[in-house]
Amino acid sequence: MHSSTERFGAAKDKARGAVPRHVAIVMDGNGRWASKRFMPRFVGHKQGVDALVRTVRACADRGIDYLTVFAFSSENWKRPQEEVSGLMGLVLVAVSKYLGKLANEGVRIRIVGDRGAVSDKVREAWDEAERRTVLNRRITLSVAFNYGGRWDMVQACRAAIEAGVPAAELTEERLAEFLALSHAPDPDLFIRTGGEVRISNFLLWQAAYSELHFTDCLWPDFDEVELDAALATFAARDRRFGAIKTEVAPVVTAAAAVQPAA
Ligand code: IPE
Ligand code: IPE
Ligand code: MG
Repeated sequence: MHSSTERFGAAKDKARGAVPRHVAIVMDGNGRWASKRFMPRFVGHKQGVDALVRTVRACADRGIDYLTVFAFSSENWKRPQEEVSGLMGLVLVAVSKYLGKLANEGVRIRIVGDRGAVSDKVREAWDEAERRTVLNRRITLSVAFNYGGRWDMVQACRAAIEAGVPAAELTEERLAEFLALSHAPDPDLFIRTGGEVRISNFLLWQAAYSELHFTDCLWPDFDEVELDAALATFAARDRRFGAIKTEVAPVVTAAAAVQPAA
């Protein structure tokens, strides 16, 4: 448990915009972490689950309201069948090992992705995770599983059409209501571990103005030091969202602009 002073500090930072409200992470590098140790890739995925739980707790302690992680992409089905089934089995192990603990710690779990293609067992585990944590408010952990940014846009368009939204009324705000992550604000900080500098079809819509942070750290090694380094780079960024910074560039009125210099 953290002291009230620490929590007050976190709240103050958030008010200043120094702490992101929503952090998204591409948890990459599990396979290489294991290969470096001459172990099967599965061991890296298993360690990756522990890194995730560690990160959820660290984010909650820092006053981050939403954490969204990429756990299995629409494209990861292209991997050998043995690895895919190992990952599916790991979902069941992870839920039975950690769901009770995270539920007691105030973590709300949401699953985003296409549940249609996963087995009944995996779907039931996800449903249980959502059901048991529905009242929790400390932090919302969204797990992107069988998720792809392009899949999300297509399913959102389909859902909007099915809901009878007239084409003329389909604004960005209206379409966003149908996206899988409609329960969360757009991510402020987008982290990718594992050294690759690409998005790999994660949060294509939502990351439009996210600050990007890439680290060579392999996901199973991700810890509070790595998280704090990412948060420090975020705090130093100047977010403009297409506007200009008014402090450095005061608005010049038309009248002032034509005045001759004194
Ligand atoms: C990320 O680690 C986890 C998943 C994609 C499921 P990888 O399995 O991609 O690990 P590397 O990138 O091969 O090291
Ligand atoms: C992205 O990692 C997906 C997840 C972390 C779940 P990948 O390892 O699948 O991405 P690529 O293939 O290197 O782009
Ligand atoms: Mg990878």
